[in-house]
Amino acid sequence: MLQPWFTHARFGIFIHWGIYSHGRWAESWPFFRGEVAYDDYMAGAAEFTASNYHPDKWAGLFARSGAQYAVLTTKHHDGFALWPTAQSALNSVTGAPAGRDLIGPYCDALRAEGLKVGLYFSHLDWSHPDYASVLPRGKQPHDHATRHQNRFGYPQGKEDPEAWERFLAFHRAQLHELCQDYRPDLLWFDGDWERDSEQWRFKELRNQLHEWAPNVVLNSRMGGYGDYSTPEQAIPITRPEGTWEFCVTINDSWGFQLKDDNFKSPRQCLWMLAECASLGGSLLLDIGPRADGSIPEKAEAVLEAMGRWLKINGEAIFGTEAGLPPGHATAATTLSADRCTLYLILFDRPQGPIPIKGLCNPVQRATVPGHSDTLTCRQLGGAPWAGLPGVTWIDLPPEKTDPLATVVKLEFAEPLDLYTGSGDTVTHNA
Ligand code: GLC
Repeated sequence: MLQPWFTHARFGIFIHWGIYSHGRWAESWPFFRGEVAYDDYMAGAAEFTASNYHPDKWAGLFARSGAQYAVLTTKHHDGFALWPTAQSALNSVTGAPAGRDLIGPYCDALRAEGLKVGLYFSHLDWSHPDYASVLPRGKQPHDHATRHQNRFGYPQGKEDPEAWERFLAFHRAQLHELCQDYRPDLLWFDGDWERDSEQWRFKELRNQLHEWAPNVVLNSRMGGYGDYSTPEQAIPITRPEGTWEFCVTINDSWGFQLKDDNFKSPRQCLWMLAECASLGGSLLLDIGPRADGSIPEKAEAVLEAMGRWLKINGEAIFGTEAGLPPGHATAATTLSADRCTLYLILFDRPQGPIPIKGLCNPVQRATVPGHSDTLTCRQLGGAPWAGLPGVTWIDLPPEKTDPLATVVKLEFAEPLDLYTGSGDTVTHNA
């Protein structure tokens, strides 16, 4: 069920960590696509040491970054669990040198920092023989699915509904463990696309999850039975319906990859955060720790820089609502819940006064967070007596600009009244 903490969370950290985190290939997909043999892929578990895993350091970094929550992969499509599941030997206690539960300490560390706990879980499990027993309904089995079925000796096209029942029982049992042992605030599902909702019985699952974890928020990747949508990698242009969260990688990979040095800069990540906030959504920024649990320094530096900026400018992001509709300003914008404060988040250095169209209210006070003196603000033109505002111009002196992004805060005496029309003839003059 959606919770108020989530609808306005705005910034979370996504963590892909698992037996692929040695960095030679991506999470799960390489064996599914036939690029790496399944046994070679699974042998990566021998390098999953967690020898430098300090969840308190992770949580400290996330809290300093300004994030309100984090989401960690408890089990990716490869089926390897990071908690001591009683349902399978493929787990971090019995199946890797890590030799222990990695989820419990993560949950405790996040909670100690006041962060909400998100757990990623892949419905599909490409290591479980019973998973392959049934084919996607209404879809042609593509090559990958066929190869996958063959691996477990299922003759092509032949289905085994009893085995699928066993898989569903296993799936439910793992989710029950996660809910019972870790009480997540958010379950972040993935991998619902190979079967339809009826095959997964997602409606029934939703009810079960609410019994096991009454306040848990569910993302949409459960055949439409979740609470919010998860656009991935491509930032929305128009506002998605309802509550949403944009997930994106900090470089080009979900998990740690030795070859991937293509990190986005703090400014680029803040820009994505501001864009999401201006459309009323959240950013879930993904990092990939190494197999030993250490976070790559470049990712760490980005998060620290974002945090420094958010410490001063966070009021423009957290607790805000979507900003002005397109066309009013050349900046990302957000509004306070009472609509009496408008924030402009400027990523370009202004050449002169900054224009905003369509503000019917006079600006009472214009400031830059971190600076006490006010900015000069004038409305020019318009026919206010006829309800047609002119252009509001704000003077932003260069010494008040921030090298990453500058926030301008405009305060009004009354909730913001916007002119959104196409202009009109002024039939009488004041
Ligand atoms: C995709 C991929 C997966 C990744 C996920 C994150 O669904 O299958 O590898 O974990 O996106 O959103």
